[in-house]
Amino acid sequence: MPPTLRKLMLALHIAVSVGWLGAVAAYLVLDLTVAASQDAANVQAALTGMRLLVGYLIVPLALAALATGVIQSLGTPWGLARHWWVLISLLLTLLATAVLLLQASHISQGHLQGHTLLHSIGGLVVLLVITGLNVLKPPGRTPWDF
Ligand code: HEM
Repeated sequence: MPPTLRKLMLALHIAVSVGWLGAVAAYLVLDLTVAASQDAANVQAALTGMRLLVGYLIVPLALAALATGVIQSLGTPWGLARHWWVLISLLLTLLATAVLLLQASHISQGHLQGHTLLHSIGGLVVLLVITGLNVLKPPGRTPWDF
């Protein structure tokens, strides 16, 4: 990939993937509101916000983070499976996206009871780990050259 294109694509990758993390943090605030609030109207408002965030922001950002991450890996010498930090980022992102899509399908069927706290907190921790891996890029090559 030419250097300028690489920088532009990297900026896009960082914007969508760290944006995903921020959107999950906002979701967690609403999730905590559902868990802690005694006020029915407040809970309903938070649940509506959670549905909107998942459908219009979190799922699109997760898919965009995955796609731009794969492009950045294949379009640069990093490769998709050459370095442990890239391969682990890929697997964790696939796992987080799969759990997210399952949860999103439950939500779209109306099964949002506010017991999603574990997913919100777990998701946030996983995304923070991926961010750390991507910024630190710990050395260590896999046996594969792809
Ligand atoms: C939530 C998910 C992700 C987050 C928060 C994230 C975050 C970041 C950040 C902040 C950087 C810039 C680091 C730097 O260069 O100083 C970066 C670069 C990179 N990321 Fe991700 N990333 C995510 C997912 C992925 C995935 C799934 C892959 C691979 C399939 C990937 C592959 C890469 C590669 C190869 C670079 C370096 C690109 C280059 O040198 O041009 N990332 N990522």
